[in-house]
Amino acid sequence: MKEWTREERYRVLHSADEIAELHDRIVSSNYRQSFHVQPITGLSSDPNGFCYHKGLWHLYYQWCPWGAVHGLKYWYHVVSEDLLHWHNAGVGMHPDTYFDNRGCHSGSAFSDGEDLYLFYTGNHRDDDWTRTPYTCAAKLGEDGKPVKLPEPLFGPRDDYSEHQRDPKIVYVPDKKKYFIFIGAQNLDLKGRALMYQSENLLEGWKFAGELKVPGFEDFGGMWECPCIVHISGKDVLIFSPQYTKLPGRSESTNHNVYLVGSMDYDTLTFTPDGGYQFLDFGFDFYAAQFAANVSDPDKAILIAWIGLPDNHYCTEPEDWEGSMTVVRELRLKDGKLVQAPVEAIAGLRETALPADGRLPGVCELLVENKGTEFALTLFAKGDGAGGFTFVFDPEKKALVADRRGMNKRFNESVGEVLEVPMESVRNVRALIDKCSVELFFNDGEATFTSHVYPEMNEHHFTLSVNTKVTIYPLKPSVVDDFVV
Ligand code: FRU
Repeated sequence: MKEWTREERYRVLHSADEIAELHDRIVSSNYRQSFHVQPITGLSSDPNGFCYHKGLWHLYYQWCPWGAVHGLKYWYHVVSEDLLHWHNAGVGMHPDTYFDNRGCHSGSAFSDGEDLYLFYTGNHRDDDWTRTPYTCAAKLGEDGKPVKLPEPLFGPRDDYSEHQRDPKIVYVPDKKKYFIFIGAQNLDLKGRALMYQSENLLEGWKFAGELKVPGFEDFGGMWECPCIVHISGKDVLIFSPQYTKLPGRSESTNHNVYLVGSMDYDTLTFTPDGGYQFLDFGFDFYAAQFAANVSDPDKAILIAWIGLPDNHYCTEPEDWEGSMTVVRELRLKDGKLVQAPVEAIAGLRETALPADGRLPGVCELLVENKGTEFALTLFAKGDGAGGFTFVFDPEKKALVADRRGMNKRFNESVGEVLEVPMESVRNVRALIDKCSVELFFNDGEATFTSHVYPEMNEHHFTLSVNTKVTIYPLKPSVVDDFVV
């Protein structure tokens, strides 16, 4: 593993020429994605600024240009008309002011119909590396490039730790007010969210108070990327609690959860209807964000980072890593989120292949299970050995996912076996790309997202009896071009 100095990680990108050779080199990697957004070079992490505006979907990702390392973060911009075919639109935000001198960290977007506004964390560090996070804003100019406000909307509070970031902006029509949720850590090192309010998007912001979430006062050490959506008469709060282990998640200390409940903007209280639930049960799913300005009141649109902080992935020696999930449509059913890949994805299907055990490198696999048992191995060798296995355990009432059979193993220390609780396996929809797999179980009641790096001899699958499978190779939907 390459050791990066601080100077290397925080190097400023002055010209596209500086990364042209890197891009040329990585596009020939066997693991470049075909229908998932991925970094043009270097590292992509959280989705940012996901929003519908004037007929186009905008998405940004946290981007470190230089390699598979977390360093100076830019926002990189991609756009789409259908949430599936994404086009590279160039750097979306440069860390080029005093307030964001060491990175434009995560944030969200909001369209008022006329203009698109971006809200992000300016990660300021002094020479002695003391950090001051500022909440900053920008407005997208006619040329698609942001025009930053000269001053931040507000700075950090000194009664919380330095971890105060990831503004999520919402408009609350009843109150005719905007609110910003900020992910935070208090001085007892507990995860929190802070609330700010204003009648105007770009001025008048005041601290409103800490978000109260009864029963969640001691739940993780930092709540990264809080985000909220109102669907089907309920509020859904998502966030990524860090620095804690949670039951069922092996040794991992980074998670992405959701609460269904009611948000009261007068008392700043989110009252959950029940316990927390995992947004996804896979190894690599984090910092999910709902799209803003979605018109359907019963549907939320979500995207997440396929990856986790502090983890290392197999493309690291190639100087790139990370990917976004496919965009997902979420609905509420019996107090749970039900997820489906964006509908347009069916348009990528090519003619179905005979189910002879071969697994194309980029495909969709649809499995119906008529039996009570269930076992699926993806990326098995020709004789069915090895691979990534998913076996239903009726005693545990869980599907056990085990990646230890893969040639390329990684992040062993966070665990290589996970359990997905379920009563039975009725059906599975698996989306397989060059370095990721996303599974939707039982019509999307549970999902499982992970990086995976199959080698040449790992392109078969096996299934238990009483199953019916359909395999569609998928056409590409992202272009790996060099736009900076
Ligand atoms: C989550 C996160 C955010 C932060 C960003 C920096 O992965 O740590 O809290 O804004 O990444 O890249």
